[in-house]
Amino acid sequence: MQFAGTHVLSVEQFERGDIDRIFAVADAMAPYALRQKVTRVLEGAILGNMFFEPSTRTRVSFGCAFNLLGGNVRETIGLESTSLAKGESIYDTARVLSGYSDIICMRHPTAGSVAEFAAASRVPVINGGDGANEHPSQALLDLYTIRKELHHHGRELDGLRIAMIGDLKHGRTVHSLCRMLTLLKQVKVVLVSPQELAMPELYIELLRQAGHQVTISTDLTDSIAQVDIIYSTRIQEERFASKAEAAMYRGRFRLNQATYTQYCEPNTVIMHPLPRDSRAEANELDNDLNHNPNLAIFRQADNGILVRMALFALILDVAHAVDLHARPVNWYHRRS
Ligand code: CP
Repeated sequence: MQFAGTHVLSVEQFERGDIDRIFAVADAMAPYALRQKVTRVLEGAILGNMFFEPSTRTRVSFGCAFNLLGGNVRETIGLESTSLAKGESIYDTARVLSGYSDIICMRHPTAGSVAEFAAASRVPVINGGDGANEHPSQALLDLYTIRKELHHHGRELDGLRIAMIGDLKHGRTVHSLCRMLTLLKQVKVVLVSPQELAMPELYIELLRQAGHQVTISTDLTDSIAQVDIIYSTRIQEERFASKAEAAMYRGRFRLNQATYTQYCEPNTVIMHPLPRDSRAEANELDNDLNHNPNLAIFRQADNGILVRMALFALILDVAHAVDLHARPVNWYHRRS
């Protein structure tokens, strides 16, 4: 695909070669993310970082990724802080705000709203999550993490065995990840959820059409026994009619060290898009896993910087010039 000037709205728009290109650029961003070098390649550029739903990782890592490339970030947080709350349309908002920025990242609670915004925008737009629909940059960083973790154990992406666990109905990260997996070969997918929160048929069909083996289960321990990756997710409380309804499903699929030791293969990698729900009644990934070397959740979050830097560099067409604008850092830094 032609990256320069493109919107990133859905994983659907990528082919395998595009993913390889993004990952190659992401790999090259490591010295900057690790503060070994500084680059000013996006000096003068402005990111409009517009988050109309709560976010920690996506909002901050998009902002940091842009800063690490030398650009400036202008944030808009919460619908109530904008004139959308006064009845202004998404079209008018996009026409106006795209005049103030060189690129926009946007999260919005309504499926399809980021695409609607992008259609009116004069600059590229990256979907930071639209309702229960998609979260494409998360799927990119998830696959990037899976690739790195598998390489560590001498394995390739093709032939992957993965269990996705939790609220598969509302979880946009697992929807985008399913689309991403269709780009691989010979994947075995186990989908573990309460029946009421099952993966939508659309995504199951996409996986099957790609030739993948799909197993559907409501049992955690059987499902994690023969997989490379456990991808746990949170019950998406904000998508339910009431908190009480969401609470009925919380805590159904808890993973702790004892369960991991008893049922998993020795090198099974544990992932989660985060936030993990650490309230006692949920505790979906127990804190006693924090020292398990196969808990990859924080490496996964760190990889978000690399992948988002790569997206900016490719969309703003500076990937070739990042090193030309580099210099050593001149402050104390420690990153591991
Ligand atoms: N993974 C993810 O989207 O996290 P945030 O909601 O904190 O951005």
